[in-house]
Amino acid sequence: GSTRYYDFKVQTTRIAKLCNSKDMVTINGMFPGPVVYAQEDDKIIVKVTNETPYNTTIHWHGVRQKLSCWFDGPSYITQCPIQAGQSFTYEFTMVKQKGTFFWHAHISWLRATVYGALVVYPKSGVPYPFKVPYEEHILILGEYWLEDVVQLEHATAASGGPPTPANAFTINGHPGPNYNCSNTDVYQIDVVSGKTYMLRLIHAGLNVESFFAIANHKLTIVEADAEYTKPFTTDRVMLGPGQTMIVLVTADQPLGKYSMAMGPYMSAKGVKFQNISSIAYFQYLGAVPNSFSLPAKLPSFNDNLAVMTVMDGLRSLSSPVNVPKKIDRELFVTIGLNVQKCHSKTPKKNCQGVNNGVMAASMNNISFVKPKISVLEAYYKGIDGYFTEDFPGAPLKFYDFVNGAPNIIPNNTEAILNGTRTLVLEYGTRVQLILQDTGTVTTENHPIHLHGYSFYVVAYGTGNYYPQNANFNLVDPPFMNTIGVPVGGWAAVRFVADNPGVWFMHCHLDIHQSWGLGTVFVVKNGKGELETLPHPPADLPQC
Ligand code: C2O
Repeated sequence: GSTRYYDFKVQTTRIAKLCNSKDMVTINGMFPGPVVYAQEDDKIIVKVTNETPYNTTIHWHGVRQKLSCWFDGPSYITQCPIQAGQSFTYEFTMVKQKGTFFWHAHISWLRATVYGALVVYPKSGVPYPFKVPYEEHILILGEYWLEDVVQLEHATAASGGPPTPANAFTINGHPGPNYNCSNTDVYQIDVVSGKTYMLRLIHAGLNVESFFAIANHKLTIVEADAEYTKPFTTDRVMLGPGQTMIVLVTADQPLGKYSMAMGPYMSAKGVKFQNISSIAYFQYLGAVPNSFSLPAKLPSFNDNLAVMTVMDGLRSLSSPVNVPKKIDRELFVTIGLNVQKCHSKTPKKNCQGVNNGVMAASMNNISFVKPKISVLEAYYKGIDGYFTEDFPGAPLKFYDFVNGAPNIIPNNTEAILNGTRTLVLEYGTRVQLILQDTGTVTTENHPIHLHGYSFYVVAYGTGNYYPQNANFNLVDPPFMNTIGVPVGGWAAVRFVADNPGVWFMHCHLDIHQSWGLGTVFVVKNGKGELETLPHPPADLPQC
């Protein structure tokens, strides 16, 4: 492969939207940020220089970082932040990876404004497994706040309530005509009748999952999380934050203007948000200009069935896939949202959540606390005191196991512990991970993302996981990096721990991450050089 160089200047930029303007953090003054293009097996080198007062890191979402964990980017997991005035050069190779990815800031809530697409083409001469589209377009779904997002995170975490809803959903940074002052702040694709378009959908939103649909047009999914899928044709798709998808759309309708709409999917009960959709236009060339657009039909915000239908449609293109048939290590991990005890009740203060917060989000009843230096650095250099290796491989409390299956004991709010607990895996371990949604406050669909790997989604269902009832697909399960664990349900994923390093696994809803919904896998080195994590780069930021 060849080498692609990019220069990212982290800047404070004045942006006007929704009848307001604010200073926000961008890359090179752009919102969304610049697109990074590469080909499979290329090396990508991005020099990131921080010209803002905010601590920053950049994560290359979906890139497996084979033997390059130092460049993964999550703050305090693989690196210390790039501080004001400093720079850090990310350098990694797209080893056997191609498709639609994105990059985003991985610290506080800066991701709300610091994101962009990463498009990796197949090697020269290697065709797509579908008819070459006439054109391709990137559509990044996002959320926009009028407030400063770093302050917003602190205010939200302290409040103990649900996250403050975004002021607008956006498509490529544009709210579209459903919002104030946004009639012209709208993204538009001009299409030629009869042609087929490739849309690279990327969900870069913070705290809400989304449906996407185009009025009167069918969408054919051919790629999910940068892996080809069997073509699946549908009226709408659902993406959680952290997921990407390619859909093909043929302009086969009468000349006109059709809306492309992004609207919320929110399975948690009682969460308030603006039930307004962000609209972009799919505009036929030759149609009457300024005609009214036909509205897209989105499912209602709590339509769990619509979500399941999309999920059922995601199958790996090839079958059978190379999924581990034998398992060395089975992990049962619960995902929970709970209210913590507070030392002062009114107003609630000094509570037992992460950073003294009211809410606790946890895996196996442990809320993840970010350490003061990166877990990777502490692990690599053998510095004690920053993390422990005792992440429980099964839930601590709330659960009995009846005949090997979990039996949830509701309403126990005493048992969430805080800690930087990691789980250590020997090189090459074949892991099956059962993710079980639970929680005493509410259940919710959680987009769980694993760094450093893709995993096969071999089974999922509603309610509690009972192995005897689970229907495992070992033929053509999708190979993903972010799985929306069904609300109140479960998902089973498999991967082989063959990439040494320190890998974050967390909910990609940032509010849940702020409340501690994550853990870290430490994957040990194997034998040869090709199984060993290299030394850290010389310019690795210091805390
Ligand atoms: Cu896209 Cu750890 O995240």
